[in-house]
Amino acid sequence: MSLPVTAKVPFGGDYNPEQWPEDVWKQDHRLFDSARIDLVTLGVFDWALTQPAEDVYDFSLLDRIVERAAAEGRGICLATGTGAHPAWLATAYPEVTRTDFEGRKRRFGQRHNSCPSSPVYRRLSVELARRVARRYADTPAVVAWHVGNEYGGACYCELCAAGFRVWLRNRYGTLDDLNAAWYTTFWSHTFTDWDQIEPPSALTEHWRGPDHTAFQGITLDYLRFSSDAMLTNFHDEKAAIRESSPTLPVTTNFMGMYRPIDYHRWAAHLDFASWDNYPPDDESAARMALTHDLMRGLKGGQPFWLMEQSPGVTACRDVNPLKRPGLMRLWSWQAVAHGADAVLFFQLRASRGASEKYHGAVIGHAGRSDTRVFREVAELGAELDRLGSASLGARTPARVALLFDWDSWWALEISDGPSRLVRYQEVVLAYHRALWDAGVDLDVVAVTADLSGYDVVVAPALHMLKGDLPQRLEDVAARGGSVLTTYLSGRVDENDQAFLMDVPGPLGQLMGVRVDEWDARGPEVVNPVRLGDGAGQVDVEARLLFELVIPQGAQVVGTYQADFYAGTPAVTRNSFGDGDGWYVAAGLDQEGVSWVVRQVLARHDVLGPYPDVADLESAVRVAPDGSRLLFLLNHRADPVEVTARRGGVDLLTGDRTVTGSTVRLPAYGVVVLKEDW
Ligand code: GLA
Ligand code: ZN
Repeated sequence: MSLPVTAKVPFGGDYNPEQWPEDVWKQDHRLFDSARIDLVTLGVFDWALTQPAEDVYDFSLLDRIVERAAAEGRGICLATGTGAHPAWLATAYPEVTRTDFEGRKRRFGQRHNSCPSSPVYRRLSVELARRVARRYADTPAVVAWHVGNEYGGACYCELCAAGFRVWLRNRYGTLDDLNAAWYTTFWSHTFTDWDQIEPPSALTEHWRGPDHTAFQGITLDYLRFSSDAMLTNFHDEKAAIRESSPTLPVTTNFMGMYRPIDYHRWAAHLDFASWDNYPPDDESAARMALTHDLMRGLKGGQPFWLMEQSPGVTACRDVNPLKRPGLMRLWSWQAVAHGADAVLFFQLRASRGASEKYHGAVIGHAGRSDTRVFREVAELGAELDRLGSASLGARTPARVALLFDWDSWWALEISDGPSRLVRYQEVVLAYHRALWDAGVDLDVVAVTADLSGYDVVVAPALHMLKGDLPQRLEDVAARGGSVLTTYLSGRVDENDQAFLMDVPGPLGQLMGVRVDEWDARGPEVVNPVRLGDGAGQVDVEARLLFELVIPQGAQVVGTYQADFYAGTPAVTRNSFGDGDGWYVAAGLDQEGVSWVVRQVLARHDVLGPYPDVADLESAVRVAPDGSRLLFLLNHRADPVEVTARRGGVDLLTGDRTVTGSTVRLPAYGVVVLKEDW
């Protein structure tokens, strides 16, 4: 089971006509036609509509919505509608609402407020999914199932506590093993009965705030459990869908780098990945690229769907800036460049009331087509029509991998010491930024991924080492590849216990170093680091964390310039087999990170075509027929000119480019070059 079968990149998004009178639907569809919208996502929050009482299911309105969309020739991504439970359910069964970390029982309201462990929620959500699938499985317009919506958050109720104990029994088998894994001899935390185990909570002092804990084992496992509990919800709905729809692809919309859910553990259960892209600002091009790559990496490089993005503004932030003219288009093409095989919006028509009435939409409250946003959407629709099937199923030919690991993220950030200021995402973003600037096509993969096809593996803040990963990283270097890792890597095993050996633990051989001590300082403290030597020497700054490194065979590439460890190594390179291991022991600034990354890449022919043109992004996809698509994305507000490395046809304009000619990209411009071979 993989991606939905479509003839081109589906274009459209969330559509909620149950919110407005039927006579508006006709107008909606005429506007969809003019914007070339060919896919609608229906019913995402329809539970109260489709099941108005426990023993009453009523699909009459959804039937009309589905029939209308199908009659208009649109594909349908059909939701099970379980992202928000109805009021009658919360009243009849108070267990379905969540309990928060402070121990407060939530009342009805909001969405994503269902306890994942509630037997009633599980039974009724699964039954709804079953009925939705049974009713619409034979509707040819339905191309995919959309389960729930943006799974996330956590619940700390008694039902979850019981579920947690079951989960722990499955994981550890015996209390002895659990006590050993959690290191409970410390502070007399030893458990002698499973029922003594409580979820982390403000009431038990297990957790002294949302980001750190006094009881690492329990907090880490509760994160794992919560992610798994919601995965079970997804899985159960999917199984109910499968009873009547054996082959139609099933997904749920992810949220990118979202800490509470370990998407790598979910990935195998989805037929295809999809995600909702709401960048925090318009400076986040690299971050979006990373997130797209992370989503593509979930299914081994299989394309994903961009399930949601705003055509204009969002509504949930304190301040909601407008996407500047051209940005929606540019970012849509960026998604395609990184593997999106669908470009969808939230939402097609604006809600008139409630909390998202000011959220951007393709069609605003006035129902006009002569708005800037509608025009830009329609132009993009026309471009995607021109692209046709050219990019469908295309893969990224990456030879560089960036490791991303939720366990490391959690373990690093719940840890007391060395520094609460070191944030996993920020470390990853800095290393990714360096690769992105260099135009490198890369995969963002789980630590369990097959690394044998990569020349370079970058593993920032790889705090936790699991399974045979150290061996597989050594294998990369042994056959001539490069492995880069940083401070706070190789610290703990999968139970979050320190290795009884020198830091960086099982990475020590590969890195050829041992870390003797570490110094964490506030953001105002800078230790200058001198990188390289001779003419290539540069001075950069390091902050937050400074590990004191004693080389064990590694050569010194950069040194601290201040404090009692001035002159000692901050960056090292170790020859290992035919390749090398690079260790960055301090929180280098972006210039420093980029310098090191360029050194690592220098031995490998992996740079993009324009590695020195700032904010001109390049990405390659190779289509199933072997054709190579080069995406050029100008993230600058001014034009840029480059020389074509290879001739080809711009699929958006039909213009031919010959090798050596000038390619001009206007501000926020996009070129999709099908290269000649
Ligand atoms: C999320 C949800 C949508 C909507 C948008 C608004 O992605 O899935 O229902 O609330 O945010 O940005
Ligand atoms: Zn619960």
